[in-house]
Amino acid sequence: MRLPRGFADDVKNQGDIVRVVSDYVSLKKRGANYLACCPFHSEKTPSFTVHAGKGLFKCFGCGAGGSIFDFVMRIEGCGFPESVRIVAQKSGIPIPVVEETEDHKKIARDRDNILRLNEWAAEFFGLQLNDTDEGAGAREYVRSRGIKEESAKLFRFGYAPDSWDALTNHLKDRGATTDEIHNSGLAVLKDTGGVYDRFRARLIFPITDPQGRVIAFGGRVMGDGEPKYLNSPETAVYTKGHNLFGLAHSKNEIRNLGFAILVEGYLDCIIPFQEGIHNIVASLGTALTDNQVRLLRRYMDQPQIVVNFDPDSAGQAATMRSIDVLLAEGFKVNILRMPTKQDPDAFVRAHGVDRFRELLKTTQPYIDYIIDTSIAGHDTSRPTGKVAAINAMLPHLARMRDKVARADYAGQIADRLKIDSHIVREELKRTATNRQPSLDNKRVRAAEEITVGERQLLELMLANQEVRRAMKQCHRVSLRQSR
Ligand code: CTP
Ligand code: MN
Repeated sequence: MRLPRGFADDVKNQGDIVRVVSDYVSLKKRGANYLACCPFHSEKTPSFTVHAGKGLFKCFGCGAGGSIFDFVMRIEGCGFPESVRIVAQKSGIPIPVVEETEDHKKIARDRDNILRLNEWAAEFFGLQLNDTDEGAGAREYVRSRGIKEESAKLFRFGYAPDSWDALTNHLKDRGATTDEIHNSGLAVLKDTGGVYDRFRARLIFPITDPQGRVIAFGGRVMGDGEPKYLNSPETAVYTKGHNLFGLAHSKNEIRNLGFAILVEGYLDCIIPFQEGIHNIVASLGTALTDNQVRLLRRYMDQPQIVVNFDPDSAGQAATMRSIDVLLAEGFKVNILRMPTKQDPDAFVRAHGVDRFRELLKTTQPYIDYIIDTSIAGHDTSRPTGKVAAINAMLPHLARMRDKVARADYAGQIADRLKIDSHIVREELKRTATNRQPSLDNKRVRAAEEITVGERQLLELMLANQEVRRAMKQCHRVSLRQSR
């Protein structure tokens, strides 16, 4: 439903920030203002304040602050219009009905219908998994994947029976039309007219928005078979790459801890989650989009992320792409690389969550990851390999804002590749200006003829009289000895 023009201003003026905030945190009066422990970071002494008169909140601990709408958007993880609606509701301000165009009405109706059908479907799938004989195989599969009953309940696992019309019939019984069922993506249109169930004989993972509304489904084949995962198509409530799996359950802990862990798959999220890692979300597939990143950013003031994709080559490529997207949205990016060839799901089941927590403490800044993988990906014992490795990492290094860190990394790279750091720094400048790495073999070979140590020694000799004298002395001694 649309809101009338100017309504947000009315709500801002009439809305009672103290009353709204009180629904989420317990406020204590301090003079003209109110005080509480901040809901956006963890603290023991209160530094979160609400200024009733100005209609503003501010946390002096984590820096969060803003209007009543900012508060609701943050804490609910919703957008602006939704926040206006929530504040109006909580402040007892009636939301006026606006004359909407037929188009608007239809869009809103379609969305509501799909959400309703998805909810019905989630209930149906859940029942099939938990309370039917046919669900026994799926229950066994869930167990075999190490999923505890409580997490199956929390994430609302389900089972789509091996039938072409079980769900469709169920939805029709509850009053849905064929059109609605087709629009929801739960059924596929037949050439001959009519529809059939999209998900058959699969374990079902509902995909929700941050508020926990079911917007789509993923279905895994139990055992081998293609495709391994079948997903809902895009609908009026679901756009691929606009959601993060698990966010409804993880948003609070992401807010508390100030960082998120990003994994690829459903179970890479669910298995660590059930073992107590509650700030984890999955991108569901490989390419992270800027929409997903912006969604995540809502929950953090200084957004930080640990990217923990699969240790295969697809996961590596996805890691590189995600780094660019995350940096562009202002994230501090660290990479967790599994020491074993396991994805997070397999790792946690094999080695336990404590080992996983240890790994979380040893994540590397993204630039170290890029340097490591660039060096590992080339034969750097040869000049051509050095060139290729440097050219692979320089564009990333050139984009770093912190000059001191950049120079430091240039030095590290030179050391690791055993070339002159001046060459790396010079190339860095060139890359920063024309974005075209231009290092070629000849320059590297020339640079190799003199080592870093030798160059430093030469520089010292030129600069310092005493060193010059000492060097001369050494030289005389070595000449005498060689005679
Ligand atoms: N995926 C998908 N469709 C596929 C394969 C994968 O949508 N045909 C998505 C799923 O969200 C999946 C994620 O990509 O969870 C990662 O894929 P992959 O690593 O192949 O699967 P896993 O998550 O490891 O699945 P499992 O552990 O069940 O084998
Ligand atoms: Mn897996």
